[in-house]
Amino acid sequence: MSKLKNKVAIVTGASKGIGASIAKYFAAEGAKVVVNYASSKEGAAQVVKAITDNGGTAISVHGDVSKEADVIKLFEETNKAFGPLDILVNNAGIYLYEPIEQVSQETFHSQFNINVLGSLLTIQAAVKQFGDKGGNIINISSAASNMPMATGSVYSATKAALDAITISLSKELGAKKIRINSILPGSTETEGTHTSGVMGSDFETKLVANTPLGRMGQPEDIAKIAVFLASDDAAWVTGEKLSVSGGIYGF
Ligand SMILES: NC(=O)c1ccc[n+]([C@@H]2O[C@H](COP(=O)([O-])OP(=O)(O)OC[C@H]3O[C@@H](n4cnc5c(N)ncnc54)[C@H](OP(=O)(O)O)[C@@H]3O)[C@@H](O)[C@H]2O)c1
Repeated sequence: MSKLKNKVAIVTGASKGIGASIAKYFAAEGAKVVVNYASSKEGAAQVVKAITDNGGTAISVHGDVSKEADVIKLFEETNKAFGPLDILVNNAGIYLYEPIEQVSQETFHSQFNINVLGSLLTIQAAVKQFGDKGGNIINISSAASNMPMATGSVYSATKAALDAITISLSKELGAKKIRINSILPGSTETEGTHTSGVMGSDFETKLVANTPLGRMGQPEDIAKIAVFLASDDAAWVTGEKLSVSGGIYGF
């Protein structure tokens, strides 16, 4: 189990949910992991503890990915602790379910600033650190990119934008030995889907009914695919949008 031995990885938004699981799976495969968080210092500390208790290597670093100064600091601290970066996972993201009447400049900018601008800022910083050895970027998109949902016009648009960035940059960065792919999770049980009220709701029942494999996804369903894309097993894979969703066909 050492597909990522000694690789240096940043996972944004890794204090909980899908990001926390990716951080743990990366560390279990030998990566040195930076567990980024915005507000959940305690959650990030618990993820680091789980990793180190398991014999892995990790630190937590604060940083709001939508703020350039925070991103610069995140990458500086990573380099100081572990050396140059090998893998960036853009997982930090927020989702709001809001009918068009409720969409505001505020909710538009909050989602686009974190989900899209945040990913561009981290990618810029990562490309600088990858240097001649190249690197690997995984963008956590959503099935909502391919299948935009009612009350998710802005959120779905952020993920479609992220996928466009994946494909554009695969063409731009391939010559620098940088691979970049999107993972499109289906509905996944996380702290986020609990606090947003999805879990236990009629919407959850509908999501499961529309998922051929008949359940909500779990964070580890996504983390295992992130390990694959980050590893040399996927050395010939770039510019792809990979659905990891139990086959969900609608929201
Ligand atoms: N769960 C699903 O059903 C699902 C489906 C498809 C795609 N996704 C995508 O998967 C990703 C993770 O979702 P999740 O359900 O695991 O979310 P979650 O449980 O709500 O966790 C979100 C994570 O993102 C972090 N974060 C939020 N804003 C940030 C910022 N400005 N800078 C840095 N970190 C920030 C949070 O950190 P703090 O707690 O420290 O603020 C937290 O660690 C998101 O991009 C989401 O769009 C989720």
